[in-house]
Amino acid sequence: MAETQKSWEHRLGKATDSGAVDFVESLSFDKRLYKYDIVGSIAHAEMLCEKKLLTKDELKQIKDALIEISRQIAEGKFKFDKTYEDIHMAIEAALIAKIGDAGKKLHTGRSRNDQVATDMRLWMRDEIELIQAKIALLQKAFVKLAEKYVNDIMPGYTHLQRAQPISIAAYLLSFVEQLNRDNLRLKNCRLLLNLSPLGSGAIAGSSLPLDRKQVCGLLGFSDITYNTIDSVSDRDFCAEFVFDCCLIAAHLSKFAEDWIIFSTTEFDFIRIDDAFCTSSSMMPQKRNPDMLELIRGKAGAVYGSLMAILTILKAQPSGYNRDLQEDKVHTFKASDTIEACVDMACAIVENTAFKTEKISAGLDKGFLDATALAEYLVKKGVAFRTAHGIVGTLVAQCEKDGKGLAQISIEQFKKYSNVIGEDVYLCLGSKNVAASYATAAAASPAQGIEQVNYWKKQLATGE
Ligand code: ARG
Repeated sequence: MAETQKSWEHRLGKATDSGAVDFVESLSFDKRLYKYDIVGSIAHAEMLCEKKLLTKDELKQIKDALIEISRQIAEGKFKFDKTYEDIHMAIEAALIAKIGDAGKKLHTGRSRNDQVATDMRLWMRDEIELIQAKIALLQKAFVKLAEKYVNDIMPGYTHLQRAQPISIAAYLLSFVEQLNRDNLRLKNCRLLLNLSPLGSGAIAGSSLPLDRKQVCGLLGFSDITYNTIDSVSDRDFCAEFVFDCCLIAAHLSKFAEDWIIFSTTEFDFIRIDDAFCTSSSMMPQKRNPDMLELIRGKAGAVYGSLMAILTILKAQPSGYNRDLQEDKVHTFKASDTIEACVDMACAIVENTAFKTEKISAGLDKGFLDATALAEYLVKKGVAFRTAHGIVGTLVAQCEKDGKGLAQISIEQFKKYSNVIGEDVYLCLGSKNVAASYATAAAASPAQGIEQVNYWKKQLATGE
């Protein structure tokens, strides 16, 4: 049997069936873990040397060869052979092929079970930082756009019906808040996963005097895991990470849905740059928001990944089971999808303009100032429920007459409530109403400016 054959072929007597080789392999998707696998192996080898399980010379040979393998993989010169099943065995086999006996000592006190758990945690630490950086760029794009429109007003909707006027900045900043929570969730996820499982072996640790804390320190984990059985089977962090991706997808799909609606001829609130639209193969006039539709649609795949991970984890017996190999398929799918969607959302936000003239021209429709009129009456001493009824009657009348509240004469107003004076007109009309919001974090232009400044500072420090 050649040196590079799997060591368990001494035990199994037969080579693996070729269909089974294809079925069991994960190399096709876990090769992206190669850097983390190599870093983990170097830390493990350093520790083995400290514990006199490797000589200094063997350690040097192992390190040099692993670095060379890493270079070969990075340059696309490494031959991936799926008979080695996964990235861990492919690298170990290449190491043994390069340096022989010293290479055979690397796996001392280690199992692929603790190895893969370590690789995934190392990978996810970096992946979280990458997604966080992308989210910060998207937040910056929203803030930049918000700054442009701090003094512009648009209708705010509830039930997709006109509700109250809001500043366009406040609308845009609502996404910055959502994304901020997404980043905090990822930060928390990173905090919880940043523990070293290495040294847990297959399930029970090892009878060799391995120094888990040394390896933990070398790999920049905050501590070691404290139960080896749990260490090799825990994939909570994958489920949690994918859940965090799901909420990002949910937020992006809300944004996409809004902007798809805003770009219709019926709304006509925004213009997305041509570079981010597609047309129709049949209808020559079309400018379709396909990128946004795909952001909305891809949320489906991310949610699917969460359901997959949770189902993989359900009722698995304690310890490692090969089911866990599937964690990567879904975790990678979710993170790749989120990366692509955040990037695309960012590009679209950077290349979209609000049609402010068009929006303001339509602001007198839909009685956006009705609530403010009721609050005007409250300020004059009328109970809110009574005020609500008076304004409701006025709105019904205006609808019949085909006019807005601001077009009611003072004499007419007085027929409905004698507390109404000339000053009523100061609280009517969308601009006046938006400027009058007095509560903290309200959707007024003044608060918009404050919030834009807050976020500019916040995002500049990266906190
Ligand atoms: N490729 C495997 C995975 O991703 C590595 C661990 C295999 N362990 C085992 N005992 N077969 O989970």
